[in-house]
Amino acid sequence: VTQLGRPFRAGETVLFVDSKDRRNLITLTPGGEYHTHAGFVPHDVVIGTPEVARVQSTLGANYLVVRPTMAEYVLKMKRGAQVIYPKDLGPLLLLADIFPGVNVLEAGVGSGALSMTMLRAGANVLGYELREDFAENAKTNVRAFLEPDVAERYRVEIRDIYDGIDATDLDRVVLDLPEPWRVAKHAASALRAGGIFVSYLPSIMQVSQLHEALDESGFEMAETIEVMQRGWHVAGRAVRPNHRMVGHTGFLTHARLLGAVGD
Ligand SMILES: C[S@@+](CC[C@H](N)C(=O)[O-])C[C@H]1O[C@@H](n2cnc3c(N)ncnc32)[C@H](O)[C@@H]1O
Repeated sequence: VTQLGRPFRAGETVLFVDSKDRRNLITLTPGGEYHTHAGFVPHDVVIGTPEVARVQSTLGANYLVVRPTMAEYVLKMKRGAQVIYPKDLGPLLLLADIFPGVNVLEAGVGSGALSMTMLRAGANVLGYELREDFAENAKTNVRAFLEPDVAERYRVEIRDIYDGIDATDLDRVVLDLPEPWRVAKHAASALRAGGIFVSYLPSIMQVSQLHEALDESGFEMAETIEVMQRGWHVAGRAVRPNHRMVGHTGFLTHARLLGAVGD
């Protein structure tokens, strides 16, 4: 199933963009209305029209209606926990070397932004999450953005990964939680030789502690990177970096379980 080129359908989530580039995710429902300070747009005006729609509110405001990209969706979807931002999600996908069929253990799943990214690249994702409400929100976000058959590749268990990992022969362990060093030993038992460990962490002191635990647990080739993204203002000949940029989000650490030669 693909939504490429298909007209907008009831039940699908679309992005309304106003003339000042303010964006809102809206799930289209028959008879529904998108209300703003500038009146409203009936959802029925959008349902059935081909992608892209240009619509007007009852008070004359213009909106562009598009299918959100995953980056747009992640920034606007309902959050329980803080999401990983698109600038880090892209590199994470390559550092973890995610491809169709790869078996990933992810913890915690939070709002599901990272789950969604890996699922869309074809991974089978088993998530461990402490909070039931976050797990439900993540599953709802994933189902709302990806095609329904993705549910076959996404399972979330309510449990504490610091207590251990039951799965074995995993290809990847991908973490976004406060004390990943407490997972290093469990990950070393759960990953197959050649498996990859990736962790997202906001503070460099945490990164240092993680590297020590990775060394002690038999991981090698450990590296940490930080991704900086600077937007540019381009208007005619006025071309310069944006005055503001996101100064810091997190550090991405990746390492591999190699095992003894010949193991
Ligand atoms: C920052 S959020 C993850 C956000 C997620 N990467 C995303 O992009 O939406 C961290 C999550 O880890 C969960 N968590 C913290 N410690 C955990 C543990 N020991 N085992 C499982 N989940 C844990 C928290 O409940 C929270 O949902």
